[in-house]
Amino acid sequence: MTFQVTVQPSGQQFSCEADETVLAAAIRAGVSLPYGCKNGACGSCKGKVVSGSVQHKAHQERALTPDEAAAGYSLFCCATTGGDLVIEARVVAGSSDYPIKKMPSRVTTIEKVAPDVVVLTLQLPASERLNYRAGQYIEIMLRDNKRRSYSMASAPVEGGPVSLHIRHMPGGLFTDQVFGSMKERDILRFEGPMGTFFLREDSDKPVVLLASGTGFAPLKAIVEHMINEKSPRPITLYWGARRPHDLYMDALCRQWAADLPQFSYVPVVSNALEEDQWQGRTGFVHQAVMADLPDMAAYQVYACGAPVVVESANRDFVSLCNLPAQEFYADAFTSEADLTK
Ligand code: FES
Repeated sequence: MTFQVTVQPSGQQFSCEADETVLAAAIRAGVSLPYGCKNGACGSCKGKVVSGSVQHKAHQERALTPDEAAAGYSLFCCATTGGDLVIEARVVAGSSDYPIKKMPSRVTTIEKVAPDVVVLTLQLPASERLNYRAGQYIEIMLRDNKRRSYSMASAPVEGGPVSLHIRHMPGGLFTDQVFGSMKERDILRFEGPMGTFFLREDSDKPVVLLASGTGFAPLKAIVEHMINEKSPRPITLYWGARRPHDLYMDALCRQWAADLPQFSYVPVVSNALEEDQWQGRTGFVHQAVMADLPDMAAYQVYACGAPVVVESANRDFVSLCNLPAQEFYADAFTSEADLTK
């Protein structure tokens, strides 16, 4: 059976089958509801059911609390319906500009940049174009219909390769393959681009980029895109990691800071050992941002990394530092297992 979904306040409408989620139906129809993980973990797709009812598949409680569910909120990536719906949700301009495609790619390099991180470079077929927005992700298609999501760490450049930053999760289906049997020239199939975490280019606000660990990947794409576009917007990159060697592209960030007058870089290390001889900032990365920018009323923030970092930043920047809630854009990793971007 097919049901009608109406989005408020945009008034857009799309049809939804009984066996598909509201988000899947919206993506299929080209209606750009916000989303990230598509598996009930990040909360990006949260909106309100104004009329009708939904059934939720399994999701994480931190993404939709029982109080929020009782108040009529829903995670549309996990919600199915048995009738017509009216929902309240933001529609994200720009995310459906580029078609989502399935395509093969060839592994051209596998470069170990930290003890547990590799940069995987994928060459696309000469006959294919992958248009995307800086910050979006792709889904690697594995056997048994399994998929793993990774942010593209390279700026969108015509014909250019796509690079991914992959942290080893021992026991993880895909990352064990990357760190074990994968060889250059292997073929990987993927689908993309996905997600609504990308640089909003219709703003001239200064940008704060907040990364933890391999959450640096989509922010690297954003910086490179802003460089390519000669954007004059001030950029400050805060990159948090446990130890200095986890800042696996520290030299690149320092080079950007040396070359670009509008770019600043603040590495923050939380668990340095004496042997690291770390002289820089220490502690929680989001608190370093707050110490430097107690008033963020005029900023845009893009955050990517561990959920605890992203959630703390969202909460504290908005409640303590005047950041407008709609100017916080986030892409939280969704699991400690082999499910992360
Ligand atoms: S919880 Fe729905 S997209 Fe992440």
